[in-house]
Amino acid sequence: MGPGPGVAAALLALLVPAAARGPGAAACEVSPGGRFDCGPERLLSRAGCEARGCCYSPGPGPRTGPGPPWCFFPRGYRSYRAENLTATESGFSARLRRVAAAFLPAAVDDVRLELALETPARLRLTLRDAARQRYEVPLPTPRVRGRARSTLYGLRPHVNLYGSHPFYLVMEDDGSAHGVFLLNSNAMDVLLQPSPALTWRTTGGILDFYIFLGPDPKSVVRQYLDVVGFPFMPPYWGLGFHLCRWGYSSTDITRQVVANMTAARFPLDVQWNDLDYADAKRDFTFNKKSFKDYPEMVREFHSRGLRYIMIVDAGISSSGPPGTYKPYDEGLKRGVFIRNATGQPLIGKVWPGPTAFPDFTNPKTHEWWHDMVKDFHEQVPFDGMWLDMNEPSNFVEGSQDGCPNNNLEHPPYVPGVFGGRLQAGTICASSQQHLSSHYNLHSLYGLTQAIASHDALLRVRGKRPFIISRSTFAGHGRYAGHWTGDVGSDWEQLYYSIPEVLLFNLFGVPLVGADICGFRGNTSEELCVRWTQLGAFYPFMRNHNDHGTRPQEPYAFSPPAQAAMRDALRLRYSLLPFLYTLFHRAHSAGETVARPLFLEFPTDPNTWAVDRQLLWGGGLLVTPVLEAGQTKVSGYFPAGTWYSLAGDSTIHSKGQWILLPAPLDTINVHVRAGHILPLQEPAFSTAQSRGKGMALVVALSLDGFARGELFWDDGESWETFERGDYTEILFLASNDAVLSQLLRASAHLDGVLLEAVTVLGVTSPPRRVLANGAIVSDFSYRSDTQVLRVPVSLPMWEQFVISWC
Ligand SMILES: *[C@@H]1O[C@H](CO)[C@@H](O)[C@H](O)[C@H]1NC(C)=O
Ligand SMILES: *[C@@H]1O[C@H](CO)[C@@H](O)[C@H](O)[C@H]1NC(C)=O
Ligand SMILES: *[C@@H]1O[C@H](CO)[C@@H](O)[C@H](O)[C@H]1NC(C)=O
Ligand SMILES: *[C@@H]1O[C@H](CO)[C@@H](O)[C@H](O)[C@H]1NC(C)=O
Repeated sequence: MGPGPGVAAALLALLVPAAARGPGAAACEVSPGGRFDCGPERLLSRAGCEARGCCYSPGPGPRTGPGPPWCFFPRGYRSYRAENLTATESGFSARLRRVAAAFLPAAVDDVRLELALETPARLRLTLRDAARQRYEVPLPTPRVRGRARSTLYGLRPHVNLYGSHPFYLVMEDDGSAHGVFLLNSNAMDVLLQPSPALTWRTTGGILDFYIFLGPDPKSVVRQYLDVVGFPFMPPYWGLGFHLCRWGYSSTDITRQVVANMTAARFPLDVQWNDLDYADAKRDFTFNKKSFKDYPEMVREFHSRGLRYIMIVDAGISSSGPPGTYKPYDEGLKRGVFIRNATGQPLIGKVWPGPTAFPDFTNPKTHEWWHDMVKDFHEQVPFDGMWLDMNEPSNFVEGSQDGCPNNNLEHPPYVPGVFGGRLQAGTICASSQQHLSSHYNLHSLYGLTQAIASHDALLRVRGKRPFIISRSTFAGHGRYAGHWTGDVGSDWEQLYYSIPEVLLFNLFGVPLVGADICGFRGNTSEELCVRWTQLGAFYPFMRNHNDHGTRPQEPYAFSPPAQAAMRDALRLRYSLLPFLYTLFHRAHSAGETVARPLFLEFPTDPNTWAVDRQLLWGGGLLVTPVLEAGQTKVSGYFPAGTWYSLAGDSTIHSKGQWILLPAPLDTINVHVRAGHILPLQEPAFSTAQSRGKGMALVVALSLDGFARGELFWDDGESWETFERGDYTEILFLASNDAVLSQLLRASAHLDGVLLEAVTVLGVTSPPRRVLANGAIVSDFSYRSDTQVLRVPVSLPMWEQFVISWC
């Protein structure tokens, strides 16, 4: 679809149909799938419905719940009339005057509409109250959880609701795509109906729509990220394996975990602790008995090349006597907490008992948070932060003193939020924050905390911050990653994790993963093996377990299970240079890391519903086993050639489902013809692996072509790309040769050698192989698999050519 005034005019026509009509019988002939609910806030009788000018048609099912509404708008219904249509520089503006009777209180009668073509591929449509200023989400630094369902064609929306990303992408029949983002942080409903149509119902702010014209789904994602921000670049170590559990009750136990991982020869980059480390579960404290040598433990981990992360909850303990807990005393003094109706800190209840909630929309809170992070870091040199309970979550409804009875607590319409009330599981909607009421800002709590934590960590450590947060909002990926919360240890959750990881990639939060082996409940050995295999392809890879359940560290299982997990971990570590390069592409160009098939193959409708496989970038397809007791798995392979990463089999697909062998020790990973992947010999941590020999897997297309790239830097300095302090290498294969081209050079790759090149799809046996002109005598070639293996020893930091004939 080409952008232009035609689209704008069509949009306005949709908004403002030409003529008003009463609900005559003809106007009420609306197919059940095309009916828009005219009584969302309560059940209406026929008389009540018709008094709204709407149509009443009882269906077979219950009056509430899913299914077509009984009371719906007639065809041609209009609530506003456009006046004063005026051309503007890049679109037009108009006034909308209410013409239909309002049935909710405080209806806006006079609306200012602006429509602008902001870029050739982006329309923005805003609807504001013409009579008064309303709350607006501040961009470009969105300071602002939510409750929207994110709808997405192509993937089933099994999305749990720790976050709000009011963005969707629609595939059209011909493979083109468009997207819509509603920049609004209020509690909202998003309803999808078969016609097809979508209803947004939000409870505040303004209607600020961005419409992304594509034309293809990748462009839609980039156009969305142009608005909310490209993802942050994670430190290299953050892509290694992370291990955590609630119940590592002392430094001794935590040390044992690391020692047991080492003894069992598993890679590990980051050891974590849940709240066990803290004194009375309070942030920025540690237990002086069970964790008395906590700082020493963290330094020890550092000396072994490991990193360390601990949990930080949103609520700040408020019950201790003054002078006993600095974060609260100091926060009180500086006025950083969210206030209740009497202007005092609102007190709720979280793990430590009574707690106050920092208001991260206040710049003073950022300063205070930095100071607390700094103080604690001076004691315990942690490397990253894990932000939990930041919806914010509250064990009492609203506050210890309840909530006032007012419009913000009980608005005329309450969307389908958790618990059915705005205060359920969180703080009072009418509590006051620096920027506005919590009613408006609730969805932004996790994001604003992530921003404060990102800034604090950068100032304190001087390096790239690493933050994982439960609550997220649009734009979160600029500052932090996400784990999918407290998932159960079952096969269904294993499967759901794929669409979730893919969705968060479309949302610009590529650093995402589910708790490997599951968090709640006892895992099983088979589930844990399969989960580790899939988890090796989560952009963020962490095994995390609940307290009181059976141990699920990789070393806790039988020798064959351990061997399978070790293989999965080694496979991930060998692919880290490729994964890191994908993160660079996300950071610098708004691309996805883990990618749904339809993003690469939009014109193949078979890919649209694939949510049991994922791609890394455009070139690596992962087909995991997601069910118990299976030794085969079926996967969809879009038309083209796909080589198994191991080089032992090749699929020439016409665009078809293929049954693959998948015994318990195997995860199927295929390289798409035309791609070159940079690999590195795995080690027990990224600190070690980064110096090891590299390898290239070259997957030739039928006409003998392939390309790939490597981004490399010191792995943790701030803004290396922005400062130009990195190496970028382009790899190209054609005419029976592979060469490297240094697009940019830095010293960071010095000493790293290219040690192996594996070329997949070499159709005839080479007689001779040359590396930079010198004969390689020990190459190997198999005509059954058409794999050429070339051992070399070439400096990665210099250009090279390897050819065969
Ligand atoms: C509509 O346009 C007319 C003529 O330009 C102007 O006088 C009037 O103030 C406008 N009304 C509004 C509400 O902008
Ligand atoms: C570490 O391994 C030892 C020996 O197998 C075992 O007794 C201990 O419980 C393990 N510790 C942890 C924390 O897993
Ligand atoms: C506000 O919170 C304080 C505690 O900080 C409490 O004493 C007071 O009763 C609360 N006010 C309301 C209206 O709930
Ligand atoms: C989980 O395993 C533990 C032993 O580690 C056992 O005590 C507990 O009863 C198990 N729970 C369930 C629900 O089976």
